[in-house]
Amino acid sequence: MTSLWWQTGVIYQVYPRSYQDTNGDGVGDLNGIERRLDYLVGLGIDAIWISPFYPSPMADFGYDVAEYLDVDSRFGTLADFDDLLAAAHSKGLRVLIDLVPNHTSIQHAWFVESRASRSNPRRSWYIWRDPGPDGAPPNNWISDFGGSAWEWDEASGQYYYHAFLKEQPDLNWRNPEVRNAMYGVMRFWLDRGVDGFRIDVLWHMIKAADFPDNPPNSEWRPSMGEKDRVLQLHSTDQPEVHAIASEMRTIADSYAGSGQGPRVLVGEIYLPLDRLVRYYGPERRGVHLPANFQLINAPWEARALETLIANYESALPPDAWPNWALGNHDRSRVATKRGPVQARVAAMLLLTLRGTPTVYYGDELGLSDVAITPAQVQDPLELREPGLGLGRDPVRASMPWDGRANAGFSTAEPWLPLNSDWPARNAEKLAKDPSSILTLYRRLLAARRAYPALSAGAFRLLDATGDVLAYERGHDPGGMIVALNLGGSPQHMILPDRAATFRPLLSTIDEFVSIESGALLLRADEGVILTAA
Ligand code: GLC
Ligand code: CA
Repeated sequence: MTSLWWQTGVIYQVYPRSYQDTNGDGVGDLNGIERRLDYLVGLGIDAIWISPFYPSPMADFGYDVAEYLDVDSRFGTLADFDDLLAAAHSKGLRVLIDLVPNHTSIQHAWFVESRASRSNPRRSWYIWRDPGPDGAPPNNWISDFGGSAWEWDEASGQYYYHAFLKEQPDLNWRNPEVRNAMYGVMRFWLDRGVDGFRIDVLWHMIKAADFPDNPPNSEWRPSMGEKDRVLQLHSTDQPEVHAIASEMRTIADSYAGSGQGPRVLVGEIYLPLDRLVRYYGPERRGVHLPANFQLINAPWEARALETLIANYESALPPDAWPNWALGNHDRSRVATKRGPVQARVAAMLLLTLRGTPTVYYGDELGLSDVAITPAQVQDPLELREPGLGLGRDPVRASMPWDGRANAGFSTAEPWLPLNSDWPARNAEKLAKDPSSILTLYRRLLAARRAYPALSAGAFRLLDATGDVLAYERGHDPGGMIVALNLGGSPQHMILPDRAATFRPLLSTIDEFVSIESGALLLRADEGVILTAA
């Protein structure tokens, strides 16, 4: 079986507001991404996924789309997008864009019409319900950003449903007109040449037709945030969602023979494993990659990770391709969660597991979460539910590029504060430092290219004890062994007999790997790759 680019390749997520500003407004833009393409080529990734850049009132920083077929002037123009896409392709990079099909902005023309009157032809494009007997919301569903998920519309005397902010009304995906409209949006961008989509909140797209109350969550504690007061049993992950995934798949696959070849769909899905893997669809007709976020919150412990990986591998349906991530624009950064030294071990894990890795911008610099004072908060989630640690501003700070003012991100003050360590921790500095995490990322990415066992080979866990997580990639003979010390004390691992001829390829610390009488001696917080070839 030959592998496709989205299977062997590495995806890199760019949060466009924070990558590179080129017009001095303190907000990153599409031209900025284009300016940094050579950095990305040098890093060694294969594809970028750009978070939303559509026209938007920015109530949720672009995840509230007011127009799907254009670019917000803060990010540039459609022509800038075409330039970026052409430039990326000319350098061998693929481009995925963010599709936000579950909801629009309250300012989208469709919603403006839908809200205009009960008899408007677009009324049924959104989810409108009569109030309960006492004027209360139609049911107990809670917005992911806190509070009732129903907003009263005085003028038309009904509630509309919003899984997120009230500025983000949910589309009614049971309406075929909505489906066709959004499939038209997909074709618009596929025709322009995008290599795929990351699909926002795919599991939210269909709600139970009769809108029953969600059951209370007996494990709820206030520190979890409002959303988890109830279990989203009826408001998410309904069986009919899979038909949508497969319709989207059909569209994406219909472009496989044109232009640059296969396109990919990555679905954002936060669900338990058994329900997550259903999004591969019967006969793999669902999305190509239902995003696997398990590493983000997993206990950082060798046996626990071993189990997690084994369970994931065995839950995958036949021919389903795995994928992994350490973070994204909604979750605490890996360097903060795991600490700066384990962030290096995590990088080796991410880039050597079987499956497509997604690297969150800045993780290759070891960026940590930025401290945000209450006065600096911009994220609507933090503004609505302050102090619980739910806010996402800390993981969205600008990329520190070099030692110039504002870390070379902008000539103006960045829209969020920079990480305070930017004078030392910036791309230019780290690129020159052979022991930096950036250099490690480059080496790991180069190793994936040089050794197909890492990007496409078979996967097998190896027996290990203590803090060591170990596995083999590729087929016998040949292949590679990856051994990761997830703890802060030295560990040793008895190597399989056939590894006697293996040589060290890479350590997360330096070039000194020690193997003594058949055992690999791992230093504290060290990860090692051994290779047969
Ligand atoms: C997804 C996005 C998140 C956004 C939400 C609503 O979870 O990743 O940033 O707030 O959808 O669109
Ligand atoms: Ca700008």
